[in-house]
Amino acid sequence: MHLTREEEKMYGGEEGLAVEKCMEILVALGDIYGAEKLVPITSAQISGVSYKTIGDAGLEFLEDLSIDAHVRVPSTLNPAGVDLQIWRELGFSEEFTKKQLAIVDAYRKMGVSTTCTCTPYLVGNVPTLGSHIAWSESSAVCYANSVLGARTNREGGPGALSAAICGRTAMYGYHLNKGRHPNLLVELETSVKGSDFGAVGYIVGNTVGGGTPYFKFKNTPSTDQLKWLGAALASSGAVALYHVENTTPESKWALKVIQEEKIEKLSINRVNIDETKVKLSTTDEKPDLICVGCPHASLEEIKRVAEIVAGRRLENMLWVCTSISVKAASDRMGYTKIIETAGGKMVCDTCMVVAPIEELDYKVVGVDSAKAANYVPNMCGLEVVYNDLENLIIEKK
Ligand code: F3S
Repeated sequence: MHLTREEEKMYGGEEGLAVEKCMEILVALGDIYGAEKLVPITSAQISGVSYKTIGDAGLEFLEDLSIDAHVRVPSTLNPAGVDLQIWRELGFSEEFTKKQLAIVDAYRKMGVSTTCTCTPYLVGNVPTLGSHIAWSESSAVCYANSVLGARTNREGGPGALSAAICGRTAMYGYHLNKGRHPNLLVELETSVKGSDFGAVGYIVGNTVGGGTPYFKFKNTPSTDQLKWLGAALASSGAVALYHVENTTPESKWALKVIQEEKIEKLSINRVNIDETKVKLSTTDEKPDLICVGCPHASLEEIKRVAEIVAGRRLENMLWVCTSISVKAASDRMGYTKIIETAGGKMVCDTCMVVAPIEELDYKVVGVDSAKAANYVPNMCGLEVVYNDLENLIIEKK
């Protein structure tokens, strides 16, 4: 792989041990994937934050690195294992939280913004069309590549952190035009709304694996709906990029590719969607905990939650997972108060998958996200019910 003079100096240890270690990771990744060079990046989004997923080994690695490493580009963190402020109120243990706070602090020392969210594009980390970035949370990667037209591979946590510290990443895969060609045409035979998008993403992700689907929808999806679609695509498959006709920024170019190359076609009808929604639930029991906000909720989604629960008293606990920045906007709009009056909680910095909710007193989790439905049984060992929020709520008598 070709390195510039500056990169050679970094690789040779002239900028310190941390930079040298990180360059070694980037060069090793580049060699594995056949990259010819590194490319400068404009931002990073770093996973590997929850103590539940990285444990003591991860904490030790980060604490060592934080002694002399600092990020060179704007960088944000993925969700952590607890709400960093109201963890005690939510029932998380002091022992877990202590380790979690140490992890977040190590990242803070390295200059990474500790907003802890999988929707960094809602809190100011918004890459422009065609810019090269190094993001690692799979739904955020899908959104950045597809909806914003930025260019990133599905980086692992150490890869994204190394890229942030060196300000560059290996140029292969989705950084190149040829890595962005669609290879499955998906035609929707029915209009879709709400939790349909997650089901569609789940079906297509299973079919296309790590490929790039091109969608023809009957109705134009909103940005929130694209977010749900991408999260499901990235969890049932390994999708990092999709195109939507007349909607996503590279769709015109992608359509030309479809017309020139013979690619496979998949049709999805109402029955396929409804059957998938049933399949995504592991039980038909009522949920004792409802979690929405996977990926982290936007202000529009929180507004909708507030409209649904306004004036009601919920029997099941409701968590609305989001970032601290979006929660601040929700507080100001009065949505938080409405949700809390109904018995729900705004939960920041974490989510139903990376938090140790299995240590709390819940058995069945209700979700409106196909990604969460896919992961909660495996990551938390709890039963899951997949449906729209209005169908998950139980009102106090
Ligand atoms: Fe985000 Fe957690 Fe879902 S990280 S995409 S809310 S599983």
